[in-house]
Amino acid sequence: MERLDKFLSTRGGISRKEAQKSIKKGEVTVNGAVCRVTDCKIDPEADAVTLRGQAVCADEHVYIMLNKPAGVVSATEDRSDKTVLDILPDSLRRKGLFPAGRLDKDTEGLLLITDDGDLAHRMLSPKKHVPKRYIAQLDGVITEEMIRAFEAGIVFADGTACLPAQLAVQEGSGGKSGVVTICEGKYHQVKKMFAVVGRKVVHLQRISIGNLYLDSNLPIGYAKKLTKLDIDTILLGKIY
Ligand code: URA
Repeated sequence: MERLDKFLSTRGGISRKEAQKSIKKGEVTVNGAVCRVTDCKIDPEADAVTLRGQAVCADEHVYIMLNKPAGVVSATEDRSDKTVLDILPDSLRRKGLFPAGRLDKDTEGLLLITDDGDLAHRMLSPKKHVPKRYIAQLDGVITEEMIRAFEAGIVFADGTACLPAQLAVQEGSGGKSGVVTICEGKYHQVKKMFAVVGRKVVHLQRISIGNLYLDSNLPIGYAKKLTKLDIDTILLGKIY
């Protein structure tokens, strides 16, 4: 059993003080009835709690797929720009969320947001080599030499060597758009790899992480909740 104000502050994305205020104002229901008692004991597994009409999720961790738009930064806070957390709907907000990995401000597509540090660590660990796939639109055509250079492993001007990567021309793009798969996450990696072969990336979208694909029905800027099972089975290949 857990105190209602504590439950709301850990799972509802608000501070303990805000939770107490909301409870006193009658903005919180437990099993359909308004509850104004801040220290009321609830069973997070069994009781249905709402805050301002929205269900508060009792799961220990949340996993969110965001179709990141350009113009927002992959950070928890920022002085001048909107962050990926700022654009989440209230129903998905909770304390402790952070983006697992980062996309550049102008990159769009699949971003995972979670409050599960352990998962993020496993997913981002360079040793895991989780493949990430991107669609890159370029200022010129992709040549056979470029495909071979990606396969051999691009080396940046400062001597940093990238792991072998796959590059395939995207059908119907006139050769100016490619699907790139990399198994690491160096800063600006895809843009820098193309720069080495003389191409500028004019648009970049991430379409998958491991076997988790961006939901093609999720419009840019929208987010949806995933289950832990989605993450473990699809992303890390763990079998229950
Ligand atoms: N590589 C880049 O250059 N930018 C991204 O946002 C992701 C990968």
